Amino acid sequence: MEAERDSTIELPIGSLTRRRFLGWLGWGSLALALGGIAQGIPFYLKPRLTYEPTTTFIVGRPSDYQVGEMRPIEAKRVLIFRTPLGFQALSMTCTHLGCSYKPFGPPTREYPVVHAVCPCHGSVFARDGRVLGGPAPKPLPFYRLSLTPDGRLQVDNAQTVPSTWYLTVEGQEIEGPTPDGSDIKFS
Ligand code: FES
Repeated sequence: MEAERDSTIELPIGSLTRRRFLGWLGWGSLALALGGIAQGIPFYLKPRLTYEPTTTFIVGRPSDYQVGEMRPIEAKRVLIFRTPLGFQALSMTCTHLGCSYKPFGPPTREYPVVHAVCPCHGSVFARDGRVLGGPAPKPLPFYRLSLTPDGRLQVDNAQTVPSTWYLTVEGQEIEGPTPDGSDIKFS
């Protein structure tokens, strides 16, 4: 009983009592905690991080490609063409239901021009992206290419360009002829 009564006795700390001191400590801690929460609210409402996927990717260096080459970048579903004028990047995603079509092949009796066929439902595309046959509702898009400061080829699949757009080896954007497939060397 004596010890219990002693614990309720307020001992002076300077001019403060222990109870008042502990009270201030408690309120101070609460204020600090609330301040920390309030500081975090703007970042919660508008986080600095963005989780949107990037639209640009590297596909090597210009010197990695031979003139006349058509290189599928399967992971990114894009075809890179190295033409005598420069580079082009064409989507490999069929505009019907999104399958990957096969790379372009030489003219055939049925399609007497360079063309690519989608294995899913038979859409056929010309080298300039036009639909030659099948259910695809619209042409294939071409994507903008650029050279990074360290000289690598970069595709941006959020930016489309006309089929007459080329990126030169030096990194200049130029206008050229509509590609008809004569710029591909079939082995
Ligand atoms: S997805 Fe290519 S033709 Fe249907």
